[in-house]
Amino acid sequence: MDKLWGGRFDREGGRGAEGFTASLSFDRRLYRQDIAGSIAHARMLARAGVLTAAEADQIVAGLREIEGEIERGEFPFRVELEDIHLNIEKRLTEKIGPVGGKLHTGRSRNDQVALDMHLYMKETLVRMRERVHRLQAALAARAEEALNGPDGPVLMPGYTHLQRAQPVLLAHHLLAYFWMLERDQGRLADCLGRTDVMPLGAAALAGTSYPIDREFVARELGFAAIYPNSMDAVSDRDFLLEFLAAAAILMTHLSRFCEEVVIWSSYEFGFVELADAYATGSSIMPQKKNPDVAELARGKAGRVFGRLMGLLTVMKGLPLAYHTDMQEDKEAVFDAVDTLDAVLPALAGMVETMAFRAGRLRAALRGDFSNATDLADYLARKGLPFREAHETVGRAVRFCLDHGRALEDLTLDELRRFSPLFETDALQALEPASVVGARRSAGGTAPERVAEQLAQAKRILFSREAGESMVGECCR
Ligand code: ARG
Repeated sequence: MDKLWGGRFDREGGRGAEGFTASLSFDRRLYRQDIAGSIAHARMLARAGVLTAAEADQIVAGLREIEGEIERGEFPFRVELEDIHLNIEKRLTEKIGPVGGKLHTGRSRNDQVALDMHLYMKETLVRMRERVHRLQAALAARAEEALNGPDGPVLMPGYTHLQRAQPVLLAHHLLAYFWMLERDQGRLADCLGRTDVMPLGAAALAGTSYPIDREFVARELGFAAIYPNSMDAVSDRDFLLEFLAAAAILMTHLSRFCEEVVIWSSYEFGFVELADAYATGSSIMPQKKNPDVAELARGKAGRVFGRLMGLLTVMKGLPLAYHTDMQEDKEAVFDAVDTLDAVLPALAGMVETMAFRAGRLRAALRGDFSNATDLADYLARKGLPFREAHETVGRAVRFCLDHGRALEDLTLDELRRFSPLFETDALQALEPASVVGARRSAGGTAPERVAEQLAQAKRILFSREAGESMVGECCR
């Protein structure tokens, strides 16, 4: 029997549920964090006089060799050793002899696995923020292009209820997603702050009788603080739930955007053409160009929501402190991480390469009555109560619908049949560019407001790029 907890078990103990309880197949991705944590722990034990300096050096050297073995694909993983922690510890003893068995002094796998997940999550959150940043940069760049188009700002229909509402700038529409993603940045950063707390030293649940120095370990590993309560330290998975919640909201944003791309790239809309690399054809219909990247990203939102629900449900009934139920945190988090790692770069690439069809967007505005509000505003500015103005323009719209006309094509004489307040400038007010240009309220779609908004977005991107590197240093 070579299990590391073999003492109280029968020598011939069955292998019954071994495969079921093992987590090695998925927690082996924590090997770097596990080794970094063990090295810090060994150094701390030497400082505390629990290990001699020579023993700690042997342990650290052994762990470094093991890291090399894993990286070169030479490590003899053994599923009967359950998880990554026991695999590494067993290997250490094989390599350096019984002194390897001293590493686990004053520690439990309960605080060890919590530490590994904290280290993993810190690194991951930094990477996710970089990936979201790239997508934001792509949206801002496309917005800038659309704002400064060769024929002026690119206009498009704005919708509510998926019905034509009022024209907007394409740049304005794209930047709406920039700001959603900026809130995601905030949530990820916030989660990072609460993940930056070190659980090691909680041992199984109650702390340890060894004279350990948790602050030293925290400093070695780059943590800002330590958990004040050992029971909370080993049983807290809030930082993972927070990540999954932030990931789920982020996926909602990505999914909404993808839904627009699917609609926009349809034959009926034709607002955008996806680059060939971000679309696929049909095996039967030669004319097809399907927006698969957008569809798949939209579909993967459901999977991330499921991971959040799954882990919330795992956690909700657990008394203190550690339970093996919590082993389920890993596949949930890893799957959400893998999903975001795949979706975010794909969407950044899609945005960077898609071609907006300014002509189609402009043409879509002709005759769509999205200037009706402005005609009513025109009358209201001339003193007519807005409710009456609304009624008057409603009659003009009815007239156009009955006669197959567009509001902007009515002559001044025709307009005056609905109200004598109309004068020549009414025709000007109906032009989409005037309609958009008039929306100068803060945060509105007028070009000068969108330019301000874009400048603000670029300042945010710039300061994040210029600020301290977002790349984590926690696991070196
Ligand atoms: N594989 C376990 C997990 O992922 C490690 C901690 C196990 N602790 C224990 N006492 N069985 O949660």
